Amino acid sequence: MATVAVVGTQWGDEGKGKITDLLASRADIIVRYQGGNNAGHTVKIGDELFKLHLIPSGIFYSGKLSVIGNGVVVDPGVLIQEMEALASKGVDLSGLRVSDRAHVIMPYHVLLDKLEEEARGTKRIGTVAKGIGPAYTDKIARRGIRIADLVDEEAFRERLDAVLPHKNKEIERLYGGTPFSKADIVEEYLGYGRRIKPYVVDCSSLLNDAIDRGKHILFEGAQGTLLDVDHGTYPYVTSSWPTAGGAAAGTGVGPTRIGRVVGVAKAYTTRVGQGPFPTEIDGPLQDELREKGMEYGTTSGRARRCGWFDAVGVRYAARVNGLWGLAVMHLDTLSGFPTVRICTGYKLGDKVLTSPPSTIKALEACVPVYEELEGWPEGTCKVERYEDLPGAARRYLARISELIGVPIAIVSVGRERSETIVIKEPFEGSPS
Ligand code: IMP
Repeated sequence: MATVAVVGTQWGDEGKGKITDLLASRADIIVRYQGGNNAGHTVKIGDELFKLHLIPSGIFYSGKLSVIGNGVVVDPGVLIQEMEALASKGVDLSGLRVSDRAHVIMPYHVLLDKLEEEARGTKRIGTVAKGIGPAYTDKIARRGIRIADLVDEEAFRERLDAVLPHKNKEIERLYGGTPFSKADIVEEYLGYGRRIKPYVVDCSSLLNDAIDRGKHILFEGAQGTLLDVDHGTYPYVTSSWPTAGGAAAGTGVGPTRIGRVVGVAKAYTTRVGQGPFPTEIDGPLQDELREKGMEYGTTSGRARRCGWFDAVGVRYAARVNGLWGLAVMHLDTLSGFPTVRICTGYKLGDKVLTSPPSTIKALEACVPVYEELEGWPEGTCKVERYEDLPGAARRYLARISELIGVPIAIVSVGRERSETIVIKEPFEGSPS
């Protein structure tokens, strides 16, 4: 199989960074298809920890291309900082590419993200305040500025003339904020444009040509299915499409050319930001899980809310993404709990739902139905083969796979790149 997409099946932070980093070694091109610098993953190479928000982790492999697709929203200042940080540690940036059709996060988007959140009061979403939502809003409202404009002085000035008066009115009249000066933006952003220009490409044509030549492409999603603007827990969602369908729209590769979809799920569940979370654990057990799993955000540093594995949510993700296989992460974090729980249904009134309801009100009223399984005291980090995992851990994984209806392809048993068991190779064999 030549093309594989990696998607999150929960509320993001499932450990996609580790899986894309692992699969990047089998790919020729790694492409991000949505989100922006609201995402974040940490890649550990030797003793060095790298925190990436925008650039795909393929950048650590020489001879591969790392592409920021048209579906991503790019804060050019952040991109340049990330490029400089990598270059200062000796990472070669010659494989970096940025789509000419990706939208630019402008300074007024970052300000509006904060102002809009404040205005929501108790109904705030808990955004990461990086301007992601406002940048996508302008994209859909046809008021966006794209990378192709940023790297062309005349086009950039023209677009800014067309959109800045509207944005300034919004800032001043709706929120009483301070408007932006065109001259300041032009000076700063044209500088960014000059820096980024050498990396700019037509993403769709680059990827389709590569597929024609039999190259292996890895599509990297950010966030997760339950944060998808269509399929997530709306309105407590991000403003893009982390689901597999987003990979086609966000890169210009047709859906028939995306071969397999690997869904990444933690062996339990976490969520940052506001919104319903049926399997959230009450009390000290939640803190124990957070500390063992080091569940603090890469981008925001916020403590993540923690809960049991939710098979209702992940089964739903299997459906909306058309999953081929599941990568179960952080199995090691569950070692040492006397028992572990899986949510198999949501009790709503006198019914038990097997798929999440569409309204927040109904989801908040759902009470999880749990199945309790025996835990395993043994650590798993050093286990190299599936058969050598503790029996109770294997029964836990088998039950998850049965409930989701998708085979387990990969199990992560520790933090290191090497602490991963691959059962089914996503890039091998013919489509199935
Ligand atoms: P936004 O993407 O900054 O607009 O935030 C919308 C919601 O998505 C908030 O609840 C954020 O906490 C959440 N979110 C955004 N990016 C991530 C991520 O990479 N991991 C987990 N949650 C995220």
